[in-house]
Amino acid sequence: MKTFIIGISGVTNGGKTTLAKNLQKHLPNCSVISQDDYFKPESEIEMDKNGFLQYDVLDALNMENMMSAISCWMEENPEAPPLSTDSQSSMDIPILIIEGFLLFSYKPLDTLWNRSYFLTIPYEECKRRRSTRVYEPPDPPGYFDGHVWPMYLRHRREVDTITWEIVYLDGTKSEEDLFSQVYEDIMHQLAKQKSLVKDSHFNGKEIISWTK
Ligand SMILES: Nc1ncnc2c1ncn2[C@@H]1O[C@H](COP(=O)(O)OP(=O)(O)OP(=O)(O)O)[C@@H](O)[C@H]1O
Ligand SMILES: [Mg+2]
Repeated sequence: MKTFIIGISGVTNGGKTTLAKNLQKHLPNCSVISQDDYFKPESEIEMDKNGFLQYDVLDALNMENMMSAISCWMEENPEAPPLSTDSQSSMDIPILIIEGFLLFSYKPLDTLWNRSYFLTIPYEECKRRRSTRVYEPPDPPGYFDGHVWPMYLRHRREVDTITWEIVYLDGTKSEEDLFSQVYEDIMHQLAKQKSLVKDSHFNGKEIISWTK
């Protein structure tokens, strides 16, 4: 059975978790791993000279634990070649969505992605959405401009240099529009993957008959 691994990354409050949950509701056999669940405890987060805790960097995350969760999912859903391509519809393929703000600059994940999405929203909208959320610990005054947004810009510059295809999503679209856009794209990608598997299966048969 093939698998399909989707990355949803992007700016803080861009709507990553919301989109991932909406997709999971409509995709059978779909698991979600959220990077939000892997922050280290506050006592282990570094502080800069301005007294800002450095939460928006890879060092603030327990990536080893997140990788273990991904490995567990892979062990439960091994990528064995299908016995019959016709018996597996695109909807049966186990799907894993990994969503989080720092995915595509974390090298050990680079070879994993079957499809990569990146949500963006403008500075003002990001600041507004962030101010409506309650964080633990709470954002101190000046935190958005002094840490969150500069770290996002740094990450964004890294993502812009990535060589594999990233599908940028306009996070100011409605939840429903974003869901439809990405759901349709995933269906298209799954159908493509299925036809590739079918082709390689067919080619395999041809090679066998030639060598007889
Ligand atoms: N398409 C949308 N349009 C308007 N608001 C949205 C949209 N999607 C999510 N939101 C709102 O924006 C806020 C952040 O959403 P969400 O938690 O999904 O973002 P996130 O990218 O996962 O954020 P974080 O970086 O904190 O993990 C929430 O208040 C949510 O209701
Ligand atoms: Mg989130």
